Amino acid sequence: MGRIRVLSDQVANQIAAGEVVDRPASVVKELLENALDAGATRIRVEVEAGGRKLIRITDNGHGMNRDDALLAFERHATSKLRTAGDLLSIATLGFRGEALPSIASVARVTLETVAEEEASGTLLDIAGGKIHRVEDAALPRGTTITVADLFFNTPARRKFLRAEATELAHITALVTHYALAHPEKHFELVSASHTVVSAPPVARTAERIYQIFGKETLSQLLPVAAERRLERAGLPEAPPWKKDPDEPVRDPGSLRLSGFYSKPELQKLNRNSIYIFINKRLIRDRLLLHAIVEAYRNVIPPASFPVVLLFLEMPPEEVDVNVHPAKTEVRFRQQSLVHDFVRDSLRNALVLARPAAGFLAALDSAPLASPSLMPPAASPLPGPPAGAPRSLESAAVYPSDAAIFALTPKLPPAVPGRLAFDGSLEPDPSAGSATSILSTAAFDGCSATSGTTNGSGHEALDTAEVEAQQAAANLNHLQSLRPIGQLRESFILAIGDDGLWIIDQHVAHERILFEKILRDRQVEKVQRQRLLMPMLVELKPWQMVVFARISEELERNGFEVEPFGPQTLAVKAAPVGLEGSELERSLAEIIEQSSTESEATQNKMLTVLRSRIAASIACHSAIKVNTKLDPARMEWLLLELSKTEHPTSCPHGRPIALQYSWKDIQRAFHRI
Ligand SMILES: Nc1ncnc2c1ncn2[C@@H]1O[C@H](COP(=O)(O)OP(=O)(O)OP(=O)(O)O)[C@@H](O)[C@H]1O
Ligand SMILES: [Mg+2]
Repeated sequence: MGRIRVLSDQVANQIAAGEVVDRPASVVKELLENALDAGATRIRVEVEAGGRKLIRITDNGHGMNRDDALLAFERHATSKLRTAGDLLSIATLGFRGEALPSIASVARVTLETVAEEEASGTLLDIAGGKIHRVEDAALPRGTTITVADLFFNTPARRKFLRAEATELAHITALVTHYALAHPEKHFELVSASHTVVSAPPVARTAERIYQIFGKETLSQLLPVAAERRLERAGLPEAPPWKKDPDEPVRDPGSLRLSGFYSKPELQKLNRNSIYIFINKRLIRDRLLLHAIVEAYRNVIPPASFPVVLLFLEMPPEEVDVNVHPAKTEVRFRQQSLVHDFVRDSLRNALVLARPAAGFLAALDSAPLASPSLMPPAASPLPGPPAGAPRSLESAAVYPSDAAIFALTPKLPPAVPGRLAFDGSLEPDPSAGSATSILSTAAFDGCSATSGTTNGSGHEALDTAEVEAQQAAANLNHLQSLRPIGQLRESFILAIGDDGLWIIDQHVAHERILFEKILRDRQVEKVQRQRLLMPMLVELKPWQMVVFARISEELERNGFEVEPFGPQTLAVKAAPVGLEGSELERSLAEIIEQSSTESEATQNKMLTVLRSRIAASIACHSAIKVNTKLDPARMEWLLLELSKTEHPTSCPHGRPIALQYSWKDIQRAFHRI
């Protein structure tokens, strides 16, 4: 007798559930996406015990008739796809026809739904994959799906669930981020009768950011928008003999990008604050992450990450969403084009905006990457269950349990406050004692009650104010500033129409030199100067190995260095401006910093090495603090700084110029 048997539907569904629903947040994700696909404009999510006990999602979408309601729980039953060809241009969030049967195989599910055109609705109970009840019911428009006792019949899965607060944090992050992608829709998240998220419709993403994260976060972000026409469609065209001659020539469409990116002063230790949406679908993607990091190269330090909220729109044919069971990864048909478009759009935005650090904001945002604000628990994409094997990639996205517990937001009924960018909670002293953790009621004392009033009047005003401030605080008029003197011979004070400026003379010069060295290196025109006497530098044996590896690049950057005995180098020439002990220090620094890379990555690291050398030379030859500058020299410095690409921060990410805005000054003197 043969050994092979076809699995029952119930087992097959449970296997699929293993991929699609691994924690309460992934159930929420599937049901939210279904509601959005059904055209809902109002979505309410209720959970109990972090979603383990209960998840209920109510939407006002187009609903289902009785036949469809029954079919929805069949495996591979979907209204969103008919032919294999449709797979090439998916415009909905769902398409696999797997989510509902998977969820129903591991939980007790109740579906209540009314089709738009029908008078009465359908109520359906299904548990562990078995339908227990189907009946007509009088129901309001839309669909409500209740998922109770998740994993009641799969104890192994249940064991992997984390603390309630952790699961709730994941759900919060998820709802928050879908709310960001759809500012025109109404989202609510309620946990055990406490409102966690309440986001009535607003007109623009900026207002939604304001609504959810508050003024502080919005003021640290800058808008970006870009568009690029595609020259060709990503999919190969049919050969001429198969082509219908009457078929119109297809427009390949365009790539569109919009969103928000952080000023260089805001730096994060991990990538948890980077959110990428492709055609309104929240995804994680290495390629785009790389593009974003590239855009910030030499603006923030190499090991830190910005805060980025990126919405990419492209023709559905350009992106394959059918590569991951949970649909959180995608593949682009024209990968490098998309990558470069994102990198260049962001970089151009940074160069054009030239954001200046506000004095007070800079006090709060540490110059070096800050680990807080982005607790890992708030990664909006449901993570692998505890104990499950993790790939390197997911390990980076989902940090350790210890970190999750340390940073888990206390929800609810914690103190009223605002959500941090990742969905964690920040106490908000201005909020009253309402139980609503995040609602319009908590906005700067604005007293609209959540749910009943749409406070968008206030919000629109305040976002406009934040935006005006952002526009004012840029470095576009550096050359017209008038230096009035130095503070302790280290910081230049300058005045402009828009306020008082303090410029760090060392880092300003460092930025000027850094960009010059990189430019000169590019055209192989680095200026070197011969030393009168060769300078001898002692190295340890492993440092000699590192030196051998990078010596060629050092040479191209103006160093002339030769081995002089087994552990000694003789420096015969050096880049102009680098002298004496600074020369020695710079060389030691470059070798030290280059010691951690392996040979294998060397090629890829060439650009990194180049900017590292440039940064080191710049740092060690720039004007020091405690150096007196005459007015002409100060003016020269401001003029040269104004010509740089990124006058905002030094290559290590420290701010160069701080602004005390006219408004802040008036405010501090109680004049406004
Ligand atoms: N909230 C809803 N309102 C209206 N119709 C719904 C809703 N939820 C599900 N449906 C219907 O049920 C079908 C099955 O849903 P299910 O989530 O299982 O599959 P899908 O969304 O088509 O694909 P995927 O498995 O990729 O999510 C959908 O195609 C849709 O027609
Ligand atoms: Mg679905």
